[in-house]
Amino acid sequence: MNTLILSTSEEDINLAASFIKEGGVVGMPTETVYGLAANALDENAVRRIFEAKGRPSDNPLIVHIAEFDDIERYGLVSEVPEVAKLLADKFWPGPLTIIMPKSDKVPEITTGGLDTVAVRLPSDKNAQRLIRASGCPLAAPSANISGSPSPTTANHVYSDMSGKISAVIDGGECRVGLESTVVSVKDDVVTVLRPGGVTVEDLEAVYDKVEVCDAVLNKLKEGETALSPGMKYKHYSPNARVILVKGGDKAYYDFINKQNKEDTITLCYKEDEDFVRIPAILMGSKADLEAQAHNLFADLRLIDACENVKTAYVRCPGTEGIGMAVLNRLIRAAGFEVIDLD
Ligand code: TXA
Ligand code: MG
Repeated sequence: MNTLILSTSEEDINLAASFIKEGGVVGMPTETVYGLAANALDENAVRRIFEAKGRPSDNPLIVHIAEFDDIERYGLVSEVPEVAKLLADKFWPGPLTIIMPKSDKVPEITTGGLDTVAVRLPSDKNAQRLIRASGCPLAAPSANISGSPSPTTANHVYSDMSGKISAVIDGGECRVGLESTVVSVKDDVVTVLRPGGVTVEDLEAVYDKVEVCDAVLNKLKEGETALSPGMKYKHYSPNARVILVKGGDKAYYDFINKQNKEDTITLCYKEDEDFVRIPAILMGSKADLEAQAHNLFADLRLIDACENVKTAYVRCPGTEGIGMAVLNRLIRAAGFEVIDLD
């Protein structure tokens, strides 16, 4: 299959929508990361997404809509819980995915066999245009090969998916750079299953019963069922071994400058540049968590673009604001391997 790179012109969006109407898969820009979009209500189309990604079939997809009323228009859920209405009102359109009880209209393949469906209304105008032009809700996981860092540019999508999908729409760099916050809303409690662009602090500002699922920052225990199936898989990983390094500046510099320059790289802050004597990828300023989030996946992809790199030591971010989402991705990229220098 020849994969087209499309612009965001009216003509190109309509062409992308025509691929989707025929049951094809299209790379879609959103404000978080690029998605691999297909008609969420068409079993065969959704199967093509799983094939293109090489994704385990028990890992459910997020269903994207262009306006709140699409939930009813397409009959996606059996009920919209009151708390979900409140969250949608505050954070949609935007990087928040809400898990709700599913209706029979949503095929099992879309929800990985679960009786719930994850719904998101992206703020990206080109994503909204594609959903509207397609005339259906779009199932879309991140547009990377399963296990690799998520794509934040059309080029990332093309390099993972060329030959496997009909087209990718080039909408430029994704604003947030990390996937949406995924929450469940059971028994009046909002539980964060995956942190993202809408932070825990943002949720707490509008609702008083917010919990963070243990598995967000910790390894699942032996035999424990993942509330969000995506949590149990190794994720976001470059080919090089990634290790997180916890500790103050001096301890980090002492440690990192002892490493072999030939096959080791570090991901650190802009402020570290003058003190680190091995090759470094700068994640942004220490205090600029948004920049770190925005750059993270491109930085992880850059590790593999550097020749001979076997190990990447990454400075460990804090958990405040979007830092929790950055740490959640990094700790998985590292397969939970952390060196604590404190
Ligand atoms: O920002 C995003 O969310 C991007 C863009 C494209 O919208 N999409 C994305 O999809 O990150 P994906 O498939 O890479 O991640 C979806 C996560 C997975 O961890 C999956 O297990 C979880 O959401 N999920 C989906 N449906 C679920 C459900 N019904 N119950 C629990 N977890 C669910
Ligand atoms: Mg993903």
